[in-house]
Amino acid sequence: MPVDASVRQRRVFFALWPDAALADRLDQLAQQAHEVCGGRRMRRESVHMTLAFIGEVPDACIDTLRHAVASVTATEFSMCLDRIACWERNRIVWMGCGQEALPLLALVNQLAECLKEVELSLDIRNFVAHVTLLRNAHCERLPEFPPLVWPVSDFVLAETCVAAGSTNYKLLDRWPLAKHPG
Ligand code: 2AM
Repeated sequence: MPVDASVRQRRVFFALWPDAALADRLDQLAQQAHEVCGGRRMRRESVHMTLAFIGEVPDACIDTLRHAVASVTATEFSMCLDRIACWERNRIVWMGCGQEALPLLALVNQLAECLKEVELSLDIRNFVAHVTLLRNAHCERLPEFPPLVWPVSDFVLAETCVAAGSTNYKLLDRWPLAKHPG
């Protein structure tokens, strides 16, 4: 997808966004992690799992992205967040799946294939499914959490909006996943 530096750019990504109940639970876990690791908690309304990070695109490309992923055929699934970890390089404390969630990887692959159609090539070899809980955290010690099940029934296109030094995410669109037959 060609990028023209003279037009307004928008920073976007495809993601899984938790429903209210799961967002509450993740928020509680972020609070518990904060007690152990310090740092800065993600706000409850900001917690998500990125599926495909697009980065800056011109305004006009947003609709191209919308159309590109409309053909995703992945089916609803559940995944288990049972791993808490910390990346020392950027001091992010995150939750993810101890075992690769195959339906999640299938969805990520489908998105990547759809985006190839609009000449957007994503490098998904290093994709690590994660939900960021804390930034600027201390990684020496991590809390223990019971596993958390995330029933995934849709995905979203989100935009990063930075204003007055604070980062917010705006949900631009949402696509349901196919229901399981029967
Ligand atoms: P993070 O939480 O690990 O920082 C919006 O910024 C979302 O896109 C966040 O989930 C962020 O992950 C992710 N993100 C930001 N830059 C990225 C990049 N270069 N590659 C992959 N994901 C990125």
